[in-house]
Amino acid sequence: MKEIKVGLLGLGTVGSGVFEVLKNNADEISRRSGCRIRVTRVVSRGLDAVRKMVGPDIAISEDPFDIVNDPAIDVLVEVMGGTTVARDVVLAAIARGKQVVTANKALLAVHGNEIFAKAREQGVMVAFEAAVAGGIPIVKALREGLAANRIDMLAGIINGTTNFILSEMRDKGLSFDAALADAQRLGYAEADPTFDIEGVDAAHKATLLASMAFGVPVQFDRAYIEGISRLAAEDFTYAGRLGYRIKLLGIARRRADGIELRVHPTLIPERRLLANVEGAMNAVWVKGDAVGETLYYGPGAGKLPTASAVVADLVDVARMTDVADEHRVPYLAFRQDQLQPVPV
Ligand code: NDP
Ligand code: HSE
Repeated sequence: MKEIKVGLLGLGTVGSGVFEVLKNNADEISRRSGCRIRVTRVVSRGLDAVRKMVGPDIAISEDPFDIVNDPAIDVLVEVMGGTTVARDVVLAAIARGKQVVTANKALLAVHGNEIFAKAREQGVMVAFEAAVAGGIPIVKALREGLAANRIDMLAGIINGTTNFILSEMRDKGLSFDAALADAQRLGYAEADPTFDIEGVDAAHKATLLASMAFGVPVQFDRAYIEGISRLAAEDFTYAGRLGYRIKLLGIARRRADGIELRVHPTLIPERRLLANVEGAMNAVWVKGDAVGETLYYGPGAGKLPTASAVVADLVDVARMTDVADEHRVPYLAFRQDQLQPVPV
């Protein structure tokens, strides 16, 4: 059986989940992909702990470029985070013809246009299912399931940490700080949790969703962003009395003059499905002209749900790299070089 060799960059919440899923579901994954997907090198900090987790047979080190420089590695899985080293490593991997799978929405929202353009030039995939809404296959839904539609609007709860905090504050009366500490302990929050709280993480994801839904370049700097840090206990009380719940929504809408892109706390009537998405669950509502309204629901953050999406991308890579080059389906839904930015 063909083997795909993976270099895993980052062995934190998501990286350890990826390692675990690949190990526990190896047979299932081989059957589905037609390949044996094997991690041959892990790069992360704290080598003693890394060695303990991965065992004696896998190369380990601390320099992210060790994966790029290992000619045997077919795929870089970037689950380290950040936008500086991660950008350099991902671009270097693409330049060497390696496929890339990443969960890093900040990286793609900020440097996605450059990264996708280089990937096209090199004919490699940059797969990013885990970057939006954790375990929900929303990238594949937009790219494949809804490919026939003109999409006019999407809206979603796309940050697990803030939805968890809002639920804990409303249902259990927890303080903001206590709820955030729980979200961090459960592995939902970003390394810098202000990204979650101030709506930046949701805006990264909304930017990627808009890019896929409307076929426009990534335009994170055009998004309106407001987080949940200014909400007070009274807001929940009055919202409840009026029959609403407060949710942090990411919204992207096609308008005559461009694309509207915004993230902010929103009052949603209690009877609506989105209002009842609780804890770290996410949900994305998408309206297409042919299909009508659709809703995608599932775990939006955390170790195994996110790993589920990363490994699904690895299966995609295995399937696509298994066919002859001329028949390979490009992963990206649009050609950056054929698009003009749409004014927001
Ligand atoms: P963690 O902080 O848990 O893991 C990141 C790992 O990478 C850590 O082990 C870290 O080491 C290591 N690392 C960071 N920088 C370097 C470096 N320069 N060289 C070597 N190793 C490094 O983060 P997560 O696993 O939570 O997130 C990883 C990525 O996945 C991020 O982009 C995040 O946005 C994304 N993501 C996370 C989700 C989640 O639910 N957690 C869900 C979806 C996406 P150290 O601990 O020493 O810093
Ligand atoms: N910090 C992110 C969240 C992780 O809470 O949604 C998943 O992308």
